[in-house]
Amino acid sequence: MSKNRLDKHEGRYAARTYVMRSSAIRELMSLTARPEVISLAGGMPATECFPHEVFDKINVHIGARDMALSLQYGPTEGFDFVKNDIAAVMLEEGAVIDPAHVLITTGAQQGIDLITKTFVDPGDIVLAEGPSYAGALTTFSTYQADVHHLPMDSDGLIVDALEKELDELEVEGRRPKFLYVVPNFSNPAGTTLSLERRKRVVELAAERELLVVEDNPYGLLRFAGEPVPTLLSMDTSDNIVYLGSFSKIISPGIRTGYIVAPPAIYQKTVFGKQATDLCSSPLSQLFVHEFISSGAWKDYVLRQRVLYLSRRDAMLAALEEEFPPGSTWTVPDGGFFVWATLPAPLHTGDLLVKAIEENVAFVAGAGFYVDGRGTRNMRLSFSGQSEERIREGIRRLGAVIRDQLELFEALGFTGPADETHTGTGGS
Ligand SMILES: Cc1ncc(COP(=O)(O)O)c(C=O)c1O
Repeated sequence: MSKNRLDKHEGRYAARTYVMRSSAIRELMSLTARPEVISLAGGMPATECFPHEVFDKINVHIGARDMALSLQYGPTEGFDFVKNDIAAVMLEEGAVIDPAHVLITTGAQQGIDLITKTFVDPGDIVLAEGPSYAGALTTFSTYQADVHHLPMDSDGLIVDALEKELDELEVEGRRPKFLYVVPNFSNPAGTTLSLERRKRVVELAAERELLVVEDNPYGLLRFAGEPVPTLLSMDTSDNIVYLGSFSKIISPGIRTGYIVAPPAIYQKTVFGKQATDLCSSPLSQLFVHEFISSGAWKDYVLRQRVLYLSRRDAMLAALEEEFPPGSTWTVPDGGFFVWATLPAPLHTGDLLVKAIEENVAFVAGAGFYVDGRGTRNMRLSFSGQSEERIREGIRRLGAVIRDQLELFEALGFTGPADETHTGTGGS
């Protein structure tokens, strides 16, 4: 390292580096790794439940039968037999797809990156739910997109607002490059886009030639309510690009996801992927193949659903007991997340510092918007902690919140009335 404190490379960086930012969640991960911290922050699948004997068996199989294949470069598009597995997994959600339209990616995160790389020039508009997955927002900002958030309620994205936004942009002579949505058990809101609204999104996509990026890593983790079809399965106009992931139904460590795209888009993303990483790990793809084709995954997913349901219930009950009146929160039917809204004048960014002092962590809501909203919101993840730790974590958080409210009361501070949030249920 140079002794000079100034960065001698300063004048060389690409313009995009000035808008690149770290996701709030990535930043928190180092702080929350300490064992004494109850982290309700990261969206961690309960990988400790992965069956050991299955893990061992898969690895022995790969070693005996496919070692050379697993250690070699593979095709950029991914192995055909894994694409067939993906088609089988998607069928479980009622989507019939052609495996030839599947591009295997290094996680769904790479899918977001490749689609953005394919479509977005600096200044282009991307429409996204507000709040939106923070990892997608970091990608959009890296490609210098102009993100316009659209409001949500307990039924997900408000489609009237989407239509209004499209009308307004049309008057200005502008068109968004795409709409990004997480229709099932959204990260971070926990809400699900209703069937009626899905139909309207698909209709609008056809009428307005609007490209929709449907990001669905949590769809198979439904533990309550009725399944709703994917947007992709309703589309007849080739306007949906679908992103899937094995991170939540197998493990994020294998870094395997996929894109399902109409042929023209598919070809561009393959070129984009060649420039990024040549191919996704053959070893991981073989792991996926063994786990999916053996059928073992179904039992695993079933067990995950049961586990997450009891963890969600533990969190909802604790919130009811510990959070102050005026707080609201969403009630997810699947996935990992509850999105809570606190009464004004609380600010979740300030509370986070105090919460970490009390060894509990969450993600402050502002990280899920590009425009400074979300300051009264917090994302609480129930997937990665035991019921007991969830209860204790929420108890500690409740105490931090009440202390802060008491302090504000003593100071006579009511703060700004603010602000947009997604809130249903709760006290
Ligand atoms: C909505 C959403 N999309 C994409 C991702 C990234 O998934 P992957 O691990 O497959 O890259 C996540 C991870 O949490 C997510 O919540």
